Order: sequence, then C-alpha cells, then structure tokens
Amino acid sequence: MVSILFVCLGNICRSPTAEGVFRALCEREGILDQCHIDSAGTAGWHAGKSPDPRAIAAAAQRGVDISSLRARQAIADDFDRFDFVLAMDSSNHDDLERLRSPDQRGQLNRFLEFAGSTAPVDVPDPYYGGDDGFEYVLDLIEEASTGFIQFLRSEGRLS
Ligand code: 4NP
Repeated sequence: MVSILFVCLGNICRSPTAEGVFRALCEREGILDQCHIDSAGTAGWHAGKSPDPRAIAAAAQRGVDISSLRARQAIADDFDRFDFVLAMDSSNHDDLERLRSPDQRGQLNRFLEFAGSTAPVDVPDPYYGGDDGFEYVLDLIEEASTGFIQFLRSEGRLS
C-alpha cells in the first residue's frame, strides 16, 4: 500500500484535480487497491467546500468526477500518515517544509518533479485566471500522474 497526499493552497482547484486524475489513472491501471489517495490545502479558507465549479467542469470534460471531494487543511500529522506529500507549487512546498518535522516519514516533493523534463517547476494557480488555466493544470497533472506511477513502479512500490 502506498499513501499519497496532493497539496495546493486552497484545496479547491489544483490538488482535488490531482486527486481525481491520479485516482482515475490508478483505476485504469488496476492498481487503485494499492493506493490511498487524498488532497489538502496549506490554507484552511475553503475547508468543507466542494472544488471550484470550473475545476469540476474541466475535470468532467476529461471523464473525471471530482464533485464529491471536500476541502481540508493540511496538518503536521499528514507527514506521519502519508508516504508521499506532493506539492503543486514551490510556495506550497515551502509552507509544507515548515509544517514537517525531520523525524516524520512522509516524503515531500513538488508534483511536477515527476513530469517530463520540459515541464515547468510549478502547477500555476488557476484561481484568478480564465478557463484555459484549468486545461493547462489538467495537462500538467496528467503528465505528472503518469510519471509518478512509473516512478512508484520503478521503486517497486506498485505492481
Ligand atoms: P488552489 O487554488 O490552491 O489550486 O485550490 C486557489 C483557491 C483559492 C484561493 C487561491 C488559490 N483563494 O485565494 O481563495
């Protein structure tokens, strides 16, 4: 079993999209029973809320239903509960680094470290932009999800 937590700022745009896309990919690959997948935000402003309607619509266009997800804030304990904590951008990564104690097992990475070499470092925040921002977020997340599954397989963490 491998446990993975996707984290962005609000947990209503990027990280619920990553949770949904990664879960759908695991289902397609027949490895969902080996994965525990969740998402959270470094900020708690939207705790208890559904994903942004634009994120729900963009994911639905690609066959992924994220409408039932609910936002929560990331907590220090998440680094004991999850093997991998994957930050959507560098600011999220810095905030999470401050939350994590050195003795905790959870490994912190930027999610796009698992995308191809031409991918940017950060998944850009689409909250204040137009709908094409959500398409780009999905493109990056799909690429990194494929790469992350390859990584887990190469490490012998998934069949
Ligand atoms: P997310 O996007 O971090 O991808 O969920 C945001 C959602 C809400 C806000 C900022 C970013 N906000 O300022 O409320």
